[in-house]
Amino acid sequence: MIRTLVTGATGTLGTALRPRLTAGGHAVRATSRSPPKETKGNLDWVELDLIEGTRIRSALENIDVVIHTATAPQGDTAAVDVQGTKRLLKAAEAADVEHFLYPSIVGIDDIPFSYYEHKAVAEKAVEESNIPATIVRATQFYSFIAELLDSVAKLPVWPLPTNVQIQPVDVDTVADVIVDHATLTASGRTDPVGGPEIHSVGELAQTYRAARGLRRPIIRFPIPGKTMTAFRTGQATCPDHRVGRVTWEEWFAERYASEVDETSSRVQSPT
Ligand SMILES: NC(=O)c1ccc[n+]([C@@H]2O[C@H](COP(=O)([O-])OP(=O)(O)OC[C@H]3O[C@@H](n4cnc5c(N)ncnc54)[C@H](OP(=O)(O)O)[C@@H]3O)[C@@H](O)[C@H]2O)c1
Repeated sequence: MIRTLVTGATGTLGTALRPRLTAGGHAVRATSRSPPKETKGNLDWVELDLIEGTRIRSALENIDVVIHTATAPQGDTAAVDVQGTKRLLKAAEAADVEHFLYPSIVGIDDIPFSYYEHKAVAEKAVEESNIPATIVRATQFYSFIAELLDSVAKLPVWPLPTNVQIQPVDVDTVADVIVDHATLTASGRTDPVGGPEIHSVGELAQTYRAARGLRRPIIRFPIPGKTMTAFRTGQATCPDHRVGRVTWEEWFAERYASEVDETSSRVQSPT
């Protein structure tokens, strides 16, 4: 049985990975700063803050494979994604970990956005470490796009960088690919994982608006600079690697249907 540590185990990708790894026969240890919501079963969970570096050694005890999904895109990415990754790599090397698997993002070399620049530095640290490694780059997750659109949904008009090109993917596809690589043999840099379709943000917003039955106008909000130029010219996409099968329309219809179901069962259930 492969003993696998998942950092960032409560995040979007970490949450998708845990049941898949367990079903695949891994003994999973999960880490993050706060525990996962569901604590059913014998969850092996270690509280770990990559900034402070506490508990890294105990988290890595008797571990064969590390899947390092912890990240802080809205926080201190230099401290978590760069220094935290380097700290984890050093400790993993000392703990004789056999394989370090690192999820990353398509296009980070060509998009001058500070989070992406920090991810690129972290990738380099992973490659330069003495632990055999696998780096799997993916495009933006549908849930991330949905969160962005949720954040403008209540505005009377939606100001969006409508001509930005992305190729979002469902997180389950990315998790499946990562679990396939979660063996004792490292694969180096793998093919990137993208969704089935490339869309502009304007198109994604229109699908979202229609699925929610909303009528707010979508207006183009031009954001100047090299970062947006890179997104506009498709640097965040991987057209030759359309791995995901679920489209944005299908994903969103399912997400919204389950939200409607939850709301109606809350309304109907006696208090
Ligand atoms: N989201 C996307 O669209 C996307 C697309 C392509 C690739 N990726 C990559 O996939 C990986 C996972 O992304 P995600 O979207 O699943 O991330 P996420 O949902 O933001 O989850 C981040 C995880 O990191 C943990 N974390 C944050 N700060 C920490 C710290 N100081 N110490 C220890 N743990 C910490 C969080 O838990 P606590 O806050 O409880 O610690 C959480 O479990 C990342 O490498 C990301 O770059 C993401």
